[in-house]
Amino acid sequence: MSDLEDELRAVVGPAHVLVDGDLRAPYETDWTRRFTGGARCVVRPASTAEVAAVVRACAAAGAPIVVQGGNTGLVGAGVPAGGEVLVSLTRLSQLDPVDPVEAQVTAGAGVTLEKLQGHARAAGLDFGVDLAARSAATVGGMIATNAGGIRVLQHGSMRAQVAGLEAVLADGTVLTRLTGLAKDNTGYDLTQLLAGSEGTLAIVTRARLRLVPLLPARAVALVAVAGTDAALDLLAAARARLPSLSAAEIFYPDGLDLVRSYAKLPAPFADAAGAYVVLECAARTDPTDDVLEMLSTCEAVDDATVASDRAGLERLWSYRESHTEAISTAGVPTKLDVCVPLGELSALVAELPATVAAVAPAARAILFGHLNEGNLHVNVLDAGERAEEVTDAVLRLVAAHRGSISSEHGVGRAKAPWLSLSRAPEEIAAMRRIKAALDPAGLLNPGVLLD
Ligand code: MLT
Ligand code: ZN
Repeated sequence: MSDLEDELRAVVGPAHVLVDGDLRAPYETDWTRRFTGGARCVVRPASTAEVAAVVRACAAAGAPIVVQGGNTGLVGAGVPAGGEVLVSLTRLSQLDPVDPVEAQVTAGAGVTLEKLQGHARAAGLDFGVDLAARSAATVGGMIATNAGGIRVLQHGSMRAQVAGLEAVLADGTVLTRLTGLAKDNTGYDLTQLLAGSEGTLAIVTRARLRLVPLLPARAVALVAVAGTDAALDLLAAARARLPSLSAAEIFYPDGLDLVRSYAKLPAPFADAAGAYVVLECAARTDPTDDVLEMLSTCEAVDDATVASDRAGLERLWSYRESHTEAISTAGVPTKLDVCVPLGELSALVAELPATVAAVAPAARAILFGHLNEGNLHVNVLDAGERAEEVTDAVLRLVAAHRGSISSEHGVGRAKAPWLSLSRAPEEIAAMRRIKAALDPAGLLNPGVLLD
């Protein structure tokens, strides 16, 4: 084996440099099975110092690196294109005690969202981001992609939770800014530059994270409405009248059918609806009466079911949260994550089926997502050989509706060729100059974001 692998073994220990194909395999294919590529080897450092030494060794050998957290990403950014050293961060799992006065905690990049949530809740606080992949998604990956999820309505995306970072640059330099000061105007905000940079500028190894109040009383409503317009009327009523509103999600009948057969769930209502909205309120005291009162006076509501006990909350959420797995069980989807201004959402939903059918007649688009942000997950099944044409047609339609080609999953490898639909040439040129300044040899996540 070459000098580089030996050097990596000296840094992380022989057990944490995986060169055998069978051992590498779980790291080389993404969760959706759509992206796959061979790594030169998989390296599993356990500290920032080890990450820095790994990066220095790779830089000296001119070996490109791909960075991976929980491998739950959906745009192919965490799997190799071919031949890179794959740096897996799951062993950076240190979680410091919660600081209750600052309401902050320092977490390693490999800490899962579920662990972080449990840790914060045990201290009487909570973490502001939540998403269905919580058992595997990691802090580092969520920062790299600026993950969104189901509580953006209440607390914003991942970057809003990040008060500081520790990160390793492409030459092995370590930047440490973990004090988490509430106010700090001392020049460029490198923390926020790295959030959402998809591992192309540095490797995030630790983060200082803001925590939010724990709101233990929750009420969830699953609401049947006539369609997207009615869903938006319901959203407007909920936002105006429910200060405790913490989530507003949408899905459609074809997604519900897939979810019901995958998760063995009963029909939620006697009659089928045009669209379904999940509303959640979170408060210190039971918000159920407020939810019922709003639902009873909102004309957009055709039918509704409300729960506030733990089993009921999980049951109603599972109609929405099982979409990803149900769709993946039906095939390998082309996953497109877009958002448009709310005023454009109905038109986008109406135009998508014909847009997809025009380039891939056998394909079907399952839509679901985060209603409050106009964020649709367009999952196209059975696109076959036409996946690229489908992507092109859908992303152009989204751009025509003044939307973004990536709402919360990132650009990755999947959408890099279409970045110019959402960013001006001047912006892309500035991004390339930042990339060249921090990673002149292009070692970190080549082909991701900027192709
Ligand atoms: C979700 O909102 O469930 C996630 O973004 C996952 C997905 O799009 O499949
Ligand atoms: Zn989502």
